[in-house]
Amino acid sequence: MFDYDLLVVGSANADLVVGVERRPGAGETVLGGDLAVHAGGKGANQAVAAARLGARTALLARVGDDDHGRLLLDSLRSAGADTVGVLVGGVPTGVALITVDPSGDNSIVVSPGANARLAPEDIRVAGSLLYASHVISAQLEIPLETVVEVVRNLPEDSRFVLNPSPPRPLPTEVLAACDPLVVNEHEARVILGGALVSEDPADWARLLLAKGPRSVVVTLGARGALVCDGAEVTRVPSPEVDAVDTTGAGDAFTAALAWRLGAGAPLREAAGYAARVGAAAVTKRGAQESYPTAAEVEKLR
Ligand code: RIB
Repeated sequence: MFDYDLLVVGSANADLVVGVERRPGAGETVLGGDLAVHAGGKGANQAVAAARLGARTALLARVGDDDHGRLLLDSLRSAGADTVGVLVGGVPTGVALITVDPSGDNSIVVSPGANARLAPEDIRVAGSLLYASHVISAQLEIPLETVVEVVRNLPEDSRFVLNPSPPRPLPTEVLAACDPLVVNEHEARVILGGALVSEDPADWARLLLAKGPRSVVVTLGARGALVCDGAEVTRVPSPEVDAVDTTGAGDAFTAALAWRLGAGAPLREAAGYAARVGAAAVTKRGAQESYPTAAEVEKLR
Protein backbone atom coordinates (compact mmCIF):
# COMPACT_ATOMS: atom_id res chain seq x y z
CA MET A 1 0.00 0.00 0.00
CA PHE A 2 1.43 3.37 -1.05
CA ASP A 3 1.19 6.50 1.13
CA TYR A 4 0.79 8.74 -1.94
CA ASP A 5 -1.17 8.26 -5.14
CA LEU A 6 1.07 10.83 -6.81
CA LEU A 7 4.45 12.37 -6.08
CA VAL A 8 5.20 15.40 -8.25
CA VAL A 9 8.86 16.32 -8.66
CA GLY A 10 9.06 19.77 -10.15
CA SER A 11 8.91 23.52 -10.02
CA ALA A 12 7.01 26.03 -7.92
CA ASN A 13 6.68 29.60 -9.20
CA ALA A 14 4.93 32.81 -8.27
CA ASP A 15 2.99 33.73 -11.42
CA LEU A 16 2.99 37.49 -12.11
CA VAL A 17 0.12 37.83 -14.56
CA VAL A 18 -0.94 40.80 -16.73
CA GLY A 19 -3.84 40.79 -19.18
CA VAL A 20 -2.97 42.40 -22.55
CA GLU A 21 -4.92 43.25 -25.69
CA ARG A 22 -1.95 41.95 -27.65
CA ARG A 23 1.64 40.96 -26.88
CA PRO A 24 4.39 43.51 -27.58
CA GLY A 25 6.80 42.92 -30.46
CA ALA A 26 10.56 43.41 -30.10
CA GLY A 27 11.35 46.97 -29.00
CA GLU A 28 7.66 47.74 -28.38
CA THR A 29 5.82 48.75 -25.17
CA VAL A 30 2.13 47.99 -24.57
CA LEU A 31 -0.06 48.81 -21.58
CA GLY A 32 -1.71 45.88 -19.78
CA GLY A 33 -4.26 45.42 -16.97
CA ASP A 34 -3.65 45.23 -13.23
CA LEU A 35 -0.96 42.83 -12.02
CA ALA A 36 -2.22 39.63 -10.36
CA VAL A 37 0.05 37.33 -8.36
CA HIS A 38 -0.96 33.65 -8.38
CA ALA A 39 0.57 30.42 -7.10
CA GLY A 40 1.98 28.51 -10.10
CA GLY A 41 4.86 26.49 -11.48
CA LYS A 42 4.30 23.30 -13.44
CA GLY A 43 5.18 21.02 -10.52
CA ALA A 44 3.19 22.81 -7.82
CA ASN A 45 0.30 23.17 -10.27
CA GLN A 46 0.19 19.41 -10.81
CA ALA A 47 0.34 18.76 -7.07
CA VAL A 48 -2.50 21.19 -6.31
CA ALA A 49 -4.62 19.88 -9.20
CA ALA A 50 -4.29 16.25 -8.09
CA ALA A 51 -4.86 17.02 -4.41
CA ARG A 52 -7.97 19.07 -5.19
CA LEU A 53 -9.36 16.09 -7.12
CA GLY A 54 -8.86 13.91 -4.05
CA ALA A 55 -5.52 12.23 -4.81
CA ARG A 56 -3.10 11.68 -1.94
CA THR A 57 -0.36 13.92 -3.29
CA ALA A 58 3.10 15.14 -2.31
CA LEU A 59 5.43 17.63 -3.97
CA LEU A 60 9.23 17.45 -4.09
CA ALA A 61 10.40 20.96 -4.96
CA ARG A 62 12.45 23.94 -3.81
CA VAL A 63 11.22 27.45 -2.91
CA GLY A 64 12.82 30.49 -1.29
CA ASP A 65 12.23 31.68 2.28
CA ASP A 66 10.18 34.62 0.96
CA ASP A 67 6.61 35.81 0.36
CA HIS A 68 6.35 33.92 -2.93
CA GLY A 69 7.48 30.71 -1.25
CA ARG A 70 4.89 31.17 1.49
CA LEU A 71 2.16 31.83 -1.11
CA LEU A 72 3.03 28.50 -2.74
CA LEU A 73 3.17 26.53 0.50
CA ASP A 74 -0.22 27.97 1.54
CA SER A 75 -1.77 27.05 -1.80
CA LEU A 76 -0.42 23.49 -1.65
CA ARG A 77 -1.55 22.95 1.93
CA SER A 78 -5.01 24.37 1.42
CA ALA A 79 -5.50 22.00 -1.53
CA GLY A 80 -4.45 19.11 0.73
CA ALA A 81 -1.04 18.38 -0.83
CA ASP A 82 1.77 17.18 1.45
CA THR A 83 4.65 19.69 1.51
CA VAL A 84 7.08 17.50 3.47
CA GLY A 85 9.26 17.34 0.33
CA VAL A 86 9.32 21.09 -0.32
CA LEU A 87 12.78 22.39 0.54
CA VAL A 88 12.87 26.02 1.68
CA GLY A 89 15.56 28.69 1.62
CA GLY A 90 18.85 29.76 0.13
CA VAL A 91 17.64 31.37 -3.10
CA PRO A 92 14.51 33.28 -4.16
CA THR A 93 11.41 31.40 -5.27
CA GLY A 94 11.01 30.97 -9.03
CA VAL A 95 8.92 33.57 -10.83
CA ALA A 96 6.90 33.32 -14.04
CA LEU A 97 6.10 36.49 -16.01
CA ILE A 98 2.83 35.80 -17.81
CA THR A 99 0.75 37.75 -20.33
CA VAL A 100 -2.78 36.59 -21.09
CA ASP A 101 -4.57 37.84 -24.22
CA PRO A 102 -8.35 38.26 -24.69
CA SER A 103 -8.68 34.74 -26.14
CA GLY A 104 -7.25 33.32 -22.88
CA ASP A 105 -3.95 32.27 -24.48
CA ASN A 106 -0.78 32.94 -22.51
CA SER A 107 2.93 33.58 -23.05
CA ILE A 108 5.32 32.78 -20.21
CA VAL A 109 8.91 33.61 -19.29
CA VAL A 110 10.21 31.74 -16.23
CA SER A 111 13.03 32.89 -13.95
CA PRO A 112 13.77 29.51 -12.30
CA GLY A 113 15.28 30.81 -9.01
CA ALA A 114 15.14 28.00 -6.42
CA ASN A 115 13.84 25.51 -9.02
CA ALA A 116 17.27 25.50 -10.68
CA ARG A 117 18.75 24.33 -7.35
CA LEU A 118 16.63 21.20 -7.03
CA ALA A 119 19.59 18.87 -7.44
CA PRO A 120 20.08 15.13 -8.05
CA GLU A 121 21.28 14.89 -4.44
CA ASP A 122 17.84 16.12 -3.28
CA ILE A 123 16.27 13.17 -5.10
CA ARG A 124 18.63 10.68 -3.44
CA VAL A 125 17.86 12.18 -0.02
CA ALA A 126 14.11 11.93 -0.73
CA GLY A 127 14.27 8.20 -1.50
CA SER A 128 11.61 7.31 1.09
CA LEU A 129 9.18 9.74 -0.55
CA LEU A 130 9.72 8.08 -3.94
CA TYR A 131 9.22 4.62 -2.43
CA ALA A 132 5.97 5.76 -0.80
CA SER A 133 4.48 6.89 -4.14
CA HIS A 134 2.50 4.92 -6.70
CA VAL A 135 2.92 7.38 -9.59
CA ILE A 136 5.77 9.87 -9.94
CA SER A 137 5.53 12.76 -12.36
CA ALA A 138 8.01 15.40 -13.49
CA GLN A 139 8.38 18.32 -15.89
CA LEU A 140 11.44 20.26 -17.11
CA GLU A 141 11.40 23.50 -15.10
CA ILE A 142 13.98 21.79 -12.87
CA PRO A 143 17.43 20.62 -14.08
CA LEU A 144 17.35 17.71 -16.53
CA GLU A 145 19.98 15.86 -14.48
CA THR A 146 17.52 15.93 -11.56
CA VAL A 147 14.84 14.32 -13.73
CA VAL A 148 17.41 11.71 -14.82
CA GLU A 149 18.06 10.98 -11.13
CA VAL A 150 14.32 10.51 -10.55
CA VAL A 151 14.23 7.97 -13.37
CA ARG A 152 17.24 6.13 -11.93
CA ASN A 153 15.54 5.93 -8.52
CA LEU A 154 12.05 4.86 -9.58
CA PRO A 155 10.70 2.08 -7.36
CA GLU A 156 9.98 -1.09 -9.34
CA ASP A 157 6.21 -1.01 -8.94
CA SER A 158 5.81 2.69 -9.66
CA ARG A 159 4.78 4.50 -12.84
CA PHE A 160 6.55 7.57 -14.30
CA VAL A 161 4.74 10.36 -16.15
CA LEU A 162 6.69 13.14 -17.85
CA ASN A 163 5.54 16.41 -19.35
CA PRO A 164 8.76 17.72 -20.97
CA SER A 165 7.93 21.40 -20.57
CA PRO A 166 9.70 23.62 -21.42
CA PRO A 167 10.86 21.10 -24.02
CA ARG A 168 14.37 19.95 -24.84
CA PRO A 169 15.81 16.77 -26.34
CA LEU A 170 15.58 13.88 -23.87
CA PRO A 171 18.07 11.09 -23.06
CA THR A 172 17.01 7.58 -24.04
CA GLU A 173 16.81 6.43 -20.41
CA VAL A 174 14.28 9.17 -19.61
CA LEU A 175 12.17 8.46 -22.70
CA ALA A 176 12.14 4.73 -21.92
CA ALA A 177 10.77 5.37 -18.41
CA CYS A 178 7.77 7.46 -19.53
CA ASP A 179 4.34 5.86 -19.25
CA PRO A 180 3.11 8.17 -20.70
CA LEU A 181 5.14 10.97 -22.23
CA VAL A 182 2.67 13.90 -22.29
CA VAL A 183 3.33 16.62 -24.89
CA ASN A 184 1.53 19.47 -26.57
CA GLU A 185 2.16 20.25 -30.24
CA HIS A 186 5.11 22.56 -29.53
CA GLU A 187 6.75 20.06 -27.19
CA ALA A 188 6.24 17.23 -29.70
CA ARG A 189 8.15 19.18 -32.35
CA VAL A 190 11.14 19.73 -30.05
CA ILE A 191 11.28 16.14 -28.76
CA LEU A 192 11.11 14.88 -32.34
CA GLY A 193 14.03 17.16 -33.20
CA GLY A 194 12.03 19.03 -35.83
CA ALA A 195 11.77 15.78 -37.80
CA LEU A 196 8.02 15.98 -38.33
CA VAL A 197 7.07 14.03 -41.42
CA SER A 198 3.55 15.43 -41.52
CA GLU A 199 1.26 17.99 -39.94
CA ASP A 200 -0.91 15.18 -38.54
CA PRO A 201 -0.55 14.92 -34.73
CA ALA A 202 -1.43 11.21 -34.97
CA ASP A 203 1.83 10.69 -36.87
CA TRP A 204 3.70 12.58 -34.15
CA ALA A 205 2.22 10.27 -31.51
CA ARG A 206 3.48 7.22 -33.44
CA LEU A 207 6.93 8.76 -34.00
CA LEU A 208 7.20 9.71 -30.33
CA LEU A 209 6.24 6.18 -29.27
CA ALA A 210 9.01 4.83 -31.52
CA LYS A 211 11.50 6.87 -29.48
CA GLY A 212 10.95 4.59 -26.48
CA PRO A 213 8.13 5.68 -24.13
CA ARG A 214 5.65 2.97 -23.14
CA SER A 215 2.81 5.33 -24.04
CA VAL A 216 2.29 8.81 -25.46
CA VAL A 217 -0.38 11.49 -25.02
CA VAL A 218 -0.48 14.48 -27.36
CA THR A 219 -2.64 17.29 -25.97
CA LEU A 220 -4.45 19.44 -28.53
CA GLY A 221 -6.03 22.14 -26.34
CA ALA A 222 -9.74 22.60 -27.04
CA ARG A 223 -9.54 19.72 -29.56
CA GLY A 224 -8.86 17.20 -26.78
CA ALA A 225 -5.95 14.76 -26.90
CA LEU A 226 -4.51 11.78 -28.76
CA VAL A 227 -3.44 8.69 -26.86
CA CYS A 228 -1.17 5.93 -28.13
CA ASP A 229 0.19 2.85 -26.36
CA GLY A 230 0.45 0.58 -29.37
CA ALA A 231 -0.07 0.85 -33.09
CA GLU A 232 -3.41 2.59 -32.70
CA VAL A 233 -3.80 6.31 -32.01
CA THR A 234 -7.11 7.24 -30.37
CA ARG A 235 -8.70 10.69 -30.19
CA VAL A 236 -10.16 11.80 -26.84
CA PRO A 237 -12.54 14.79 -27.06
CA SER A 238 -12.63 17.76 -24.70
CA PRO A 239 -15.88 19.36 -23.48
CA GLU A 240 -16.70 22.73 -25.06
CA VAL A 241 -16.19 25.59 -22.61
CA ASP A 242 -15.61 29.37 -22.73
CA ALA A 243 -11.90 29.83 -22.08
CA VAL A 244 -10.82 32.86 -20.05
CA ASP A 245 -7.26 31.78 -19.13
CA THR A 246 -5.44 28.65 -20.32
CA THR A 247 -2.55 29.05 -17.85
CA GLY A 248 -1.83 25.77 -16.09
CA ALA A 249 -4.57 23.80 -17.87
CA GLY A 250 -1.98 21.38 -19.25
CA ASP A 251 -0.63 20.81 -15.74
CA ALA A 252 -4.13 20.01 -14.45
CA PHE A 253 -4.61 17.61 -17.40
CA THR A 254 -1.35 15.77 -16.65
CA ALA A 255 -2.02 15.56 -12.91
CA ALA A 256 -5.49 14.13 -13.46
CA LEU A 257 -4.17 11.70 -16.06
CA ALA A 258 -1.38 10.49 -13.76
CA TRP A 259 -3.79 10.02 -10.86
CA ARG A 260 -6.39 8.08 -12.87
CA LEU A 261 -3.71 5.87 -14.44
CA GLY A 262 -2.39 5.07 -10.96
CA ALA A 263 -5.93 4.16 -9.94
CA GLY A 264 -5.95 1.55 -12.73
CA ALA A 265 -7.88 3.38 -15.46
CA PRO A 266 -6.93 2.50 -19.06
CA LEU A 267 -5.03 5.26 -20.90
CA ARG A 268 -8.00 6.39 -23.00
CA GLU A 269 -10.37 6.60 -20.04
CA ALA A 270 -7.79 8.44 -17.90
CA ALA A 271 -7.20 10.93 -20.74
CA GLY A 272 -10.95 11.49 -21.11
CA TYR A 273 -11.18 12.39 -17.43
CA ALA A 274 -8.07 14.58 -17.70
CA ALA A 275 -9.57 16.45 -20.68
CA ARG A 276 -12.57 17.38 -18.51
CA VAL A 277 -10.26 18.59 -15.72
CA GLY A 278 -8.23 20.66 -18.21
CA ALA A 279 -11.43 22.13 -19.71
CA ALA A 280 -12.69 23.14 -16.26
CA ALA A 281 -9.33 24.82 -15.53
CA VAL A 282 -9.53 27.21 -18.51
CA THR A 283 -12.87 28.64 -17.35
CA LYS A 284 -11.26 30.51 -14.42
CA ARG A 285 -8.28 32.85 -14.11
CA GLY A 286 -4.87 31.76 -12.79
CA ALA A 287 -3.38 28.29 -12.58
CA GLN A 288 -3.92 26.67 -9.17
CA GLU A 289 -6.93 28.85 -8.35
CA SER A 290 -8.69 27.54 -11.46
CA TYR A 291 -8.49 23.83 -10.65
CA PRO A 292 -11.73 21.88 -10.11
CA THR A 293 -12.77 19.45 -7.40
CA ALA A 294 -13.91 15.95 -8.44
CA ALA A 295 -17.53 17.06 -7.94
CA GLU A 296 -17.03 20.00 -10.34
CA VAL A 297 -15.53 17.66 -12.95
CA GLU A 298 -18.58 15.41 -12.74
CA LYS A 299 -20.82 18.33 -13.79
CA LEU A 300 -18.71 18.84 -16.95
CA ARG A 301 -19.92 16.12 -19.32
O1 RIB B 1 2.09 25.62 -16.99
C1 RIB B 1 1.79 26.86 -16.41
C2 RIB B 1 2.90 27.28 -15.51
O2 RIB B 1 4.05 27.51 -16.28
C3 RIB B 1 2.65 28.59 -14.79
O3 RIB B 1 2.00 28.42 -13.57
C4 RIB B 1 4.04 29.16 -14.67
O4 RIB B 1 4.53 29.19 -13.38
C5 RIB B 1 4.93 28.30 -15.56
O5 RIB B 1 5.68 27.46 -14.82
